[in-house]
Amino acid sequence: MRRIILFLVLAVFLASACSQTPAEKPEDFVGQGTPVESSMPVPGENIKETEVMGGNEPAAESVKEFKITAKQFSFTPETIEVNKGDRVRLLVTSTDVPHGISINEYGINERLDPGKEVKIEFTADKEGTFTAFCSVFCGSGHSNMKGKLIVK
Ligand code: CUA
Repeated sequence: MRRIILFLVLAVFLASACSQTPAEKPEDFVGQGTPVESSMPVPGENIKETEVMGGNEPAAESVKEFKITAKQFSFTPETIEVNKGDRVRLLVTSTDVPHGISINEYGINERLDPGKEVKIEFTADKEGTFTAFCSVFCGSGHSNMKGKLIVK
């Protein structure tokens, strides 16, 4: 009896030690007949969800991040699409002259100085198609410098 307990303790210990490797998920060990009623909790894995598709729950930790370049006279990518309720992070950089990025419906208006990444975070709580436009005069094409935010 002693040996069995010793063995189980050892097995659980090894299992939790192995699950430290980032490639392995703790669930992999649960299904293998290792008794889980031990007092030793499987260390929580640091699973980071950057993009969760089709999730309706708010999932506070999931952020959709987009890198956007602004230059005369366009934003790249021009259109970004997210789901309603998503936490959205825009990292916007101008590569030539000062521009701006503004999305009225979300109260966003930031100046973009060349080479300086500007971080914009918001929750996409309004559905629809919104225009992101350049809000700093940047030359002849300024008034046509637009992008699109689609919230489904
Ligand atoms: Cu770019 Cu105005």
